Amino acid sequence: MERKTLCLATRNAHKVHEIAAILAPYWDVKCSADFPEVVEEIEETGDTFLANATLKAVATSHAISAYALADDSGLEVDALDGAPGVFSARYGGIPSSAEKNNARLLEELARLGALAPGQRRARFRCVLVLAKAGEVLATFDGACEGTLLLAPQGANGFGYDPLFVPAGFKKTFGQLSEKTKNTLSHRGHALRKFLAWLKLNPPQ
Ligand code: IMP
Repeated sequence: MERKTLCLATRNAHKVHEIAAILAPYWDVKCSADFPEVVEEIEETGDTFLANATLKAVATSHAISAYALADDSGLEVDALDGAPGVFSARYGGIPSSAEKNNARLLEELARLGALAPGQRRARFRCVLVLAKAGEVLATFDGACEGTLLLAPQGANGFGYDPLFVPAGFKKTFGQLSEKTKNTLSHRGHALRKFLAWLKLNPPQ
């Protein structure tokens, strides 16, 4: 397959790094910051991951001639009725930070008295939307089940990774290697669906 340019519709350097690690053999991976014509931060006004990923992919692909791929993702905690969900990036308030988000998450779970692992079940979800010239070409999703610790562990990854232990493991995504995270993660699963789709739908 000829390597075409793919613009990741994000300014999140962690997401770019993880996605490029999987897609770089197939695509010339760039991100919004590499395209001066992508001027504004796209507001995530949707109430689902799909709606927000679609907003980002369509707006970015209007501005550039390359393909645009948007990732909208987040953490759903069963005991919190699916929160923080689409608010994952700003759960701890604005200006947002992973530390504030993790602190709020731990506070909410403590408030509920959710101390046992069975009360701290959660999953990461990722929705990817591929668009070109303002049209959605395909969407892909992925999930990763796990449990939240009572305190952060590890410095790898980003966001809620230091609190999240994927099912079947004893370490958090903050402690596991990037390679292991990519094989297990919501984003890794969605990206592999994208690669399978590409085999049947090579870019024109
Ligand atoms: P988005 O940019 O609106 O998609 O926000 C995604 C937010 O969800 C991030 O800022 C993190 O808080 C969280 N998140 C998504 N994926 C991951 C991950 O792989 N690890 C840890 N946190 C994640």
